[in-house]
Amino acid sequence: MKRSLLYSGKAKDIYLTEDDELIVSCYKDQATAFNGLKKEEVIGKGRLNNQISSLIFEKLNRAGIATHFVEKLSDTEQLNKKVAIIPLEVVLRNYTAGSFSKRFGVAEGIQLEQPIVEFYYKKDELDDPFINDEHVAFLDIASKEEIAYIKEETRKINGLLSSWFAEIGLTLIDFKLEFGKDKDGQIILADEFSPDNCRLWDADGHHMDKDVFRRGLGEMTDVYQIVWEKLQELD
Ligand code: TMP
Ligand code: ASP
Repeated sequence: MKRSLLYSGKAKDIYLTEDDELIVSCYKDQATAFNGLKKEEVIGKGRLNNQISSLIFEKLNRAGIATHFVEKLSDTEQLNKKVAIIPLEVVLRNYTAGSFSKRFGVAEGIQLEQPIVEFYYKKDELDDPFINDEHVAFLDIASKEEIAYIKEETRKINGLLSSWFAEIGLTLIDFKLEFGKDKDGQIILADEFSPDNCRLWDADGHHMDKDVFRRGLGEMTDVYQIVWEKLQELD
């Protein structure tokens, strides 16, 4: 199935296949934070994130969200539609945390009256700067209509994910999405959804996500394993 390596990212390697429209995403046992400044091999992380992301994307597909997910191929690999990634990190926040708390000098864990959508320009050399809609237009990343669609889709996805996580006793604090354009130019959800790119707090306020690694709070795979076990309780 895999042909040649197309791209090697921090958390995944992407391979071309014999089919021009499909790629294989191979999840790696590597954890990074602070734009790769902190980097460690973490055995079992690739399997957990592939399993978690596959389960969530399958549920999103079933709920009518257009995504790149086709099928899980193995413990660490999944088949995805090939897209041209839109260079935006789309962050949605339900509660204050992380860089939001730092930027505005507010405590973590305050529920926002309305979820806030933010854009970051996906460019490692620039450290993924915080940008607004007008910068997105200036950089020619997406049209006004496309920006509106991405925001609307992100809010819709938030509604689904927040309720699924609530069912298993976890609060979805915030998350990051990436979108891409398929062969027909349609914008679909791409990349992954795992505890690497969201914040999940349990009822006691424990971090069940990559903050465990970023902040040195323990073994990240221990909490990812719990998230994976809980997610399997969903239909
Ligand atoms: P932040 O509070 O650090 O801006 O992060 C917001 C959300 O985005 C959080 O769920 C973690 C996720 N995230 C990524 O997936 N990749 C990144 O490079 C960063 C900085 C955050
Ligand atoms: N994704 C970034 C990195 O891998 C930052 C982060 O998640 O904190 O370095």
